[in-house]
Amino acid sequence: MSESRHEATKRDIRPHSCRLPARGERHRQPHCRVFLAPNRFEGRLPLSHRGSRDNVEVSPMTGVPRKLRVPDLAAMKQRGEGIVMLTAYDATMSRLFDQAGIDLLLVGDSLGQVILGLDTTIPVTLDAVLHHTKAVTRGVSRALVVADLPFMTYQISADQAMQNAARLFQEGGAAAVKLEGGRAVADTVRRLTAAGLPVMGHVGLTPQHVHRLGGMRQQARGEEAARELMLDALALEEAGAFAVVLEAVPDAVAAAVTSRLHIPTIGIGAGPRCDGQVLVSYDMLGLFDAFVPPFVNQYARLAHDILSAAKDYAAEVGQGIYPQAHESRREGPSVVA
Ligand code: KIV
Repeated sequence: MSESRHEATKRDIRPHSCRLPARGERHRQPHCRVFLAPNRFEGRLPLSHRGSRDNVEVSPMTGVPRKLRVPDLAAMKQRGEGIVMLTAYDATMSRLFDQAGIDLLLVGDSLGQVILGLDTTIPVTLDAVLHHTKAVTRGVSRALVVADLPFMTYQISADQAMQNAARLFQEGGAAAVKLEGGRAVADTVRRLTAAGLPVMGHVGLTPQHVHRLGGMRQQARGEEAARELMLDALALEEAGAFAVVLEAVPDAVAAAVTSRLHIPTIGIGAGPRCDGQVLVSYDMLGLFDAFVPPFVNQYARLAHDILSAAKDYAAEVGQGIYPQAHESRREGPSVVA
């Protein structure tokens, strides 16, 4: 990949040899710049919610967690409960995230980069998002699945947006769609929500606008830009969006938008004062480690683990160590003619 999803330099690349620091500890090895931030919900959530998702409501009859619905999110904002969102692209991962109590799973068009190896989200198609949405919804019992509307699948007309969103709901099983933009897409958001299709907005750094923005850089840095962002977020709320992603905006701007809106804000690189947080799961798991955006906390080092497992497997096969007798099937004829 030649262009980062968030502007990060080669300096941000973490060598595989880094020791995993304890939470809140700055890594002491001089070559490693990764800082694992303290849990950003700590201090905001009641103790019972820290470190686990024991706020997950379970049916007393079946023991199955109750499915999270769009109105639950507004209630979570009112109660001050942090809303937890991750991207997901397949059934195995979505099943695990669901078990972990992640509230929202986003089938993001970031799949263009982390799954398909593209430089930007621009070439991602509706069929690609649909394909992954079907897989993600198969793995989920509680989490609310949001599917991204890719570039140019909703900007041409509200009718186009309706037709494409309908496919994500009807064929993909999504419970909501996300689209990028503020006032420019407010009428489309209004049409979709009026038709019963819940919409999540996305303002600040909007990767589908990478060419206009001139790169993946922080937005709303000046007062005028911050005012524009506020107007965009308010327009989305007024049009019926049930939540808004705030991407790569200054902490104070995100806090101001969060306190002004009645609907929840979900931050990514927008500081701790949003109603919820979202990360690209491949970043959070340390799986996509060509670069690490500065706001990402790696909760695992899967790239390292996978590399080392694959090397071990290759070595064992190469040396005839794998498979051993107990890993082979012994039944069947002893001689094949
Ligand atoms: O596509 C995506 O993964 C996203 C998140 C980063 C919010 O839009």
